[in-house]
Amino acid sequence: MDPQAHSTVSCVPNHSDFEKSIYDILVDSNEKISDIIAKSVIPGLDVAVSKISMAKLEPILLGELDAHYKLKDVIEPVRRKYEYIIIDTPPTLGLITINALVAATHILIPIQSSYLSLEGTDDLLDTIEKIRKLVNPRLEILGILITLHDRRTNISKDVVNKIKKVFGKKVFSTMISKSVKLEESPAYKESIFTYAPYSVGSIQYKKLAQEVIKRAKG
Ligand SMILES: Nc1ncnc2c1ncn2[C@@H]1O[C@H](COP(=O)(O)OP(=O)(O)OP(=O)(O)O)[C@@H](O)[C@H]1O
Ligand SMILES: [Mg+2]
Repeated sequence: MDPQAHSTVSCVPNHSDFEKSIYDILVDSNEKISDIIAKSVIPGLDVAVSKISMAKLEPILLGELDAHYKLKDVIEPVRRKYEYIIIDTPPTLGLITINALVAATHILIPIQSSYLSLEGTDDLLDTIEKIRKLVNPRLEILGILITLHDRRTNISKDVVNKIKKVFGKKVFSTMISKSVKLEESPAYKESIFTYAPYSVGSIQYKKLAQEVIKRAKG
């Protein structure tokens, strides 16, 4: 759902063969999502192709009565085909993110352990609460993920303590450290598991995956 389309570009080698993207599916109810689902380079992972055209989506949806429900409706036909569906969102709280929150069962919130990183979470929590009350009562916070963590700095320690005070048990016990390998792997279009399988980042993301699976199933 992110107009930057990074997952599409990095995981789907033949992405330019796709004329249409999730944008076309969301704006035209005659289109089917199965036509834009691509096999990725990662076994078991399919990607619904995104494009920069997603950036035009919000103003177009604005005038529609079911603007908040578009994604929920278009993924319905494939929901049961997959064990997990991961919806990536842009960093803003616009209509695209609202669509994701209406369609989702769980939300994972990454927070950087650097200065001012808690700014914006109040708005997000208010929005989640409203969406729960109005349209999606089953929406649950799966967890808060502390990322880009640098345990050498006092500011990181302070922010981690603050995040834990606010969110308690919701914070995943796995934290993702700031790491050069994690910074490099997207540039080489590889996941951390193939780019640097024995790095700290790879081990941390594997641990996170285990926590995510445990919480999502529980
Ligand atoms: N733990 C980390 N340590 C160092 N660099 C990182 C780490 N995590 C991510 N990065 C770098 O930051 C970039 C952005 O990360 P990522 O795409 O996960 O964040 P995002 O919030 O989804 O960003 P965007 O808004 O661009 O989608 C990555 O391309 C990577 O180079
Ligand atoms: Mg992103």
